[in-house]
Amino acid sequence: MSSLKAQRDLKFGIVGATGEVGRTMIEVLEERGYNLPNMRLFSSKRSAGSTLTFNSKKILVEELTEATMKEGFDFLLFSAGKEISKKFAPIAAAYGSTVIDNSSAFRMNHSIPLVVPEINAHILNGYQGIIANPNCSTIQLVLTLNPLHLHYNLKQVIVTTMQAVSGSGYKGINELKSQILDDNFKSNVYPRKIAYNCIPQIGPILKNAFSEEEMKMLDETQKIMNCSCSVDATTVRVPVTYGHSESVYAEFEKEFNLNDVKKILKNTPSIKVWVDYPTALETKGDDLSHIGRLRISHNGKGLLFWNVADNVRVGAATNAVKILEYFIHE
Ligand SMILES: NC(=O)c1ccc[n+]([C@@H]2O[C@H](COP(=O)([O-])OP(=O)(O)OC[C@H]3O[C@@H](n4cnc5c(N)ncnc54)[C@H](OP(=O)(O)O)[C@@H]3O)[C@@H](O)[C@H]2O)c1
Repeated sequence: MSSLKAQRDLKFGIVGATGEVGRTMIEVLEERGYNLPNMRLFSSKRSAGSTLTFNSKKILVEELTEATMKEGFDFLLFSAGKEISKKFAPIAAAYGSTVIDNSSAFRMNHSIPLVVPEINAHILNGYQGIIANPNCSTIQLVLTLNPLHLHYNLKQVIVTTMQAVSGSGYKGINELKSQILDDNFKSNVYPRKIAYNCIPQIGPILKNAFSEEEMKMLDETQKIMNCSCSVDATTVRVPVTYGHSESVYAEFEKEFNLNDVKKILKNTPSIKVWVDYPTALETKGDDLSHIGRLRISHNGKGLLFWNVADNVRVGAATNAVKILEYFIHE
């Protein structure tokens, strides 16, 4: 890692530090050897006053306020939800902070870069302001599709996701655990009971009959990969705590064969190709997008595979830290 001295001087903060993503960001920064003695941590009133540990040092969690956002940070990682980002990120950016935002608030804003560093970090060259981190189910998918797109030109994707409850933050995990313990525990986070069940709706169902999450997968894939491929998703919430699984069908403009596809994927550092298949429990805690069950469709036109990744890391915290890393290295 470049310049430890420069890191020591960085004015750095995490907004939403006590949440699933925020706590994982702290873990990822620590694992990657960051030395950030000026790290500040922010939450709502609920967790303000508690402490979190970074590099064996306890840090007091502060309540997020407009005044603190006006202090001007070198970098702020936001993961406190869309409404908080909409309100506070522009203030922070106006006062000189580079904001890496995990929410959906700015992702489809034309002037805001939507970044998966392995794919399009170059668009950050010379940029300062708000940067959007994509949706979790999209990041793991584009990590697998982009290397193939570069060779064969992606035309069409049909994907069904099986998304863990941690994708809804700590409230999702609590609802699953509570319903496993108590059959009558009321659903607050999800539209139906999540324990022992699968719910084919993530986010509201829109006028076009797709859910909000399904539209994010289409719009964000096109924006990140700078392509006009179609992405038809069915997004499903499943009673898994960590790890999103996706069943993917992809067609390309150019001809491909399975051996070359495997070679391309095996030579991509952010991907692990399994001889059989990965599962959510086996991939928790790492930063790779895992692939298995690679095969050609019966009509010979499509590639089918199974894709799993740790949603909180690959789909959020690690991607944000990799964006930060891009700036630090630059
Ligand atoms: N979980 C994932 O896999 C994932 C993946 C991609 C993107 N994201 C996005 O990342 C964001 C956070 O997700 P999460 O899963 O970490 O959620 P979470 O576990 O519910 O945590 C939410 C965090 O936001 C803080 N917060 C809530 N209201 C606040 C307020 N009024 N002012 C300041 N801080 C406030 C919470 O603080 P308290 O402790 O005080 O409540 C907590 O630190 C969301 O936008 C989500 O869509 C999540």
